[in-house]
Amino acid sequence: MIHGSRLAVRVTVKTEVVPGICVVELRHPLGEPLPVFAAGAHIDVALPGGHIRQYSLCNSPAERHRYLLGVLDQPGGRGGSRSMHQEVHIGDVLTISEPRCHFALHEGASESVLLAGGIGITPILAMAEHLSMRGRSFSLDYFARSAGTAAFLDRISGAAWAGQARTHFDDQGGAELGAIIGAPHAGKHLYVCGPPGFLGAALDAARRLGWNEARLHREYFSNETAGAGGGAFGVQIASTGKIIQVAPEQSIAAALEIEGIVVPTSCEQGVCGTCITRVLAGSPDHRDLFLTDEEHAANDCMTVCCSRSTSPLLVLDL
Ligand code: FES
Repeated sequence: MIHGSRLAVRVTVKTEVVPGICVVELRHPLGEPLPVFAAGAHIDVALPGGHIRQYSLCNSPAERHRYLLGVLDQPGGRGGSRSMHQEVHIGDVLTISEPRCHFALHEGASESVLLAGGIGITPILAMAEHLSMRGRSFSLDYFARSAGTAAFLDRISGAAWAGQARTHFDDQGGAELGAIIGAPHAGKHLYVCGPPGFLGAALDAARRLGWNEARLHREYFSNETAGAGGGAFGVQIASTGKIIQVAPEQSIAAALEIEGIVVPTSCEQGVCGTCITRVLAGSPDHRDLFLTDEEHAANDCMTVCCSRSTSPLLVLDL
C-alpha cells in the first residue's frame, strides 16, 4: 500500500553506477516541482511486479525538480529491487508516495557524525548536502566492501563537502568505528544507515563510549529476523472482542486482513514503523528493528507486520 498522497513521476535517468547498484532519477511528467523533502526522507514506489518498496532520496533536499534513488539489486531478496533493476526503464511512469521522514536530522545539533554502510549511503548523502548548505559541522564515513562496489564515489569526491568525507573499504583493512564516532557531547548526534550488522556494531561502539540513546539515530534497510516463524497464537480486537487466530507462518497483519481489518503496512519487515499498533494485554515477541529497547520492554505497542507473541493471546487496540 502506498501511504498518503500519490504522485505520478517519470523515470528520466536509470544508470548502473557500479555492478548491482542503479541510480534512478524521477521527475514530474510535466516538469512541475516535486513536493519538498527532508534530508533522510524516503518514498514508497509501486513497482511493475506489484511490489511497493521504500527508497531513500539521495539528492539534495534543496532540489525540487527531481528525486534521486540508489537501488541495490538483491537477487535473493523479496523481488522489489529486482523489479526496479529489470522491469523499470527510462520513460516509464511510476506511482510513488510523497516523501516521509523517519530518519530526520536533529536541527539543534552542533556536530553530526554520519556513518553509511553500503547502500545505506543514500539518505546519508542527502543529510551531507543539507548540513553543508546550512554550514553545519559534520563528518561522513562511508564503508563498503571495495571501491568497485561503492556507489556515489564520484559524487562524494566532487562535492563541496568532500573534505569532510572518508571512505573505508574492507579490502584495504577495517577502520575502528569507536575512533570515528568519538566521545559524545550534548550537541553531537550520530546518524547511521546500512545493513543490520553494521548498524549494530556502530551503535554498540557509541554506547561503549557513553553516548546517550537520544542522540543515536539509525535507519535499517532490512531485517533478517522479521517474522522468522513461531507458534500459533490469538489476537483479540479490543473494540469488538473478536479473537483471530494467527498461524505459525502467518503475520498478524495478514491474519487481520483476512478478517477485513486492514492495518497499513509498508516495509513488512519491521524497519519502517508504519504498522505500529497499540497492545492492551499480552506479551509481544518483538522482531522489528524500528522500536527502541525501551519501547520493546514497555510492551504497549508492536509492529504487526513481523512481530509475534510469547503469550497465547494479544489484545490489540483496534
Ligand atoms: Fe514497516 Fe511494519 S510495515 S514496520
